[in-house]
Amino acid sequence: MDWTVGKMDAFIIKGKSSLSGEVDIHGAKNSALPILAATLLSGGVCVLENCPELSDVENAIEILKSLGCKVRREADRVIVDSESVSTCRVEPELMHKIRSSIVFMGALIGRTGCAHLSFPGGCELGPRPIDIHINSLKRLGVVIDEKHGHFSCTTPNGVNGVTLNLPFPSVGATENIIMAAVTSQGTTKIHNAAREPEIVDLANFLNRCGANIYGAGEGVITIDGVHQLHGCTHRIIPDRIEAATYMAAAAVTGSTITLNNVISDHIEPVYYVFREAGCSIRTYKNKLLIQSPERLKRVKLIRTLVYPGFPTDAQAPVMAMLTVANGTSMFIETIFQNRYKHVDELIKMGANIKTEERVAVVEGVKSLYGAKVAATDLRSGAALVIAGLAAKGETTVTNVYHIDRGYEQLTENLRKLGADIYRTTIGE
Ligand code: UD1
Repeated sequence: MDWTVGKMDAFIIKGKSSLSGEVDIHGAKNSALPILAATLLSGGVCVLENCPELSDVENAIEILKSLGCKVRREADRVIVDSESVSTCRVEPELMHKIRSSIVFMGALIGRTGCAHLSFPGGCELGPRPIDIHINSLKRLGVVIDEKHGHFSCTTPNGVNGVTLNLPFPSVGATENIIMAAVTSQGTTKIHNAAREPEIVDLANFLNRCGANIYGAGEGVITIDGVHQLHGCTHRIIPDRIEAATYMAAAAVTGSTITLNNVISDHIEPVYYVFREAGCSIRTYKNKLLIQSPERLKRVKLIRTLVYPGFPTDAQAPVMAMLTVANGTSMFIETIFQNRYKHVDELIKMGANIKTEERVAVVEGVKSLYGAKVAATDLRSGAALVIAGLAAKGETTVTNVYHIDRGYEQLTENLRKLGADIYRTTIGE
């Protein structure tokens, strides 16, 4: 797919259709990206199954190719041969295309002992500092020289195991530390490590490649450095945020749908919100059935937290869903400073939302109305689609390239469920 096309693409949604049927959840973007970077460490052939076809993933593949890896895609499998890595420099244009490219820092250090790359720069969700990444890598013995947003990382004395206490359980920092430490000398302990399922997936992948990582998914991760890794085959976990988004689509339209290929434990942190809103959720094996009432009830308080708390990535789609609930819902966003960009767009559609700093108060309205709105980031884009499904009349969502970063075949899947939504190209 040519992802540049998405720049001028829009979604047109005619709301109020009821949804039914089943939807297959894809592999998790936030697992695929660090695991693709981690294939560098193997020095061999890695087969990643259930790897979603998304612009962010394709950009990560471009970075791997630019470093000398041979990469090919066969349907949902991506095969990476990282034997012939020829450089530790990632060009700024490639770094800019994908915000999470920062995880290549730890992977390159672990593989080659050096990394030259730039910071992805200004951000959609407010400042996204990487001080925890940098300070932790320095403690492992990496010498980091920063000039004008460019980082030169070298390891004159190798990477040496150490005990780290993170000031915040950052997902990206935990991933970078793990990747820099797997082939280090000695043992690294990460206290206050991120516990997200994507961290566990990364550790499982690396352990399959011969690493010795213990405790992923818990607060303390131990990494015993090994001399060398090898290739492996690994299946990426299902995307818990994509799942939560389809649940919001069902809830906002008063529908009953089944999600296939989910790990319900990973989605559990969002269940209470849907249940408090009046939905019933049943899970069996890798399926989830959600049944929704005709009108949702308000949810008293949703506070975004690190895993296993309510995920910040589900905040925008769930807020869109609660704009039409009966009563007043409150959100507190504790993870990112500027994650209410969807609010102004939802207000254009008739939502009644007030925000102050990290708090948003959503007074449910009877109905939203179709409008022309713009996605400002990935999850805000998903929120506007959810709102469009519930709105009277036609909604046009522009800037859908943001949505393409994280949702595979969103319009096709929603259409199969019965929604009236299609992608079109609009003039500049
Ligand atoms: C990852 C996810 C993102 C998700 C987020 C939180 C990927 C590709 N992205 O992002 O979708 O929303 O986890 O679950 O996996 N922070 C610092 N200093 C640092 C690092 C982080 O202050 O060095 C702060 C950030 O500004 C932010 C908070 O910590 O406020 C969370 O960031 P982090 O957990 O690192 O998220 P990401 O890895 O960027």
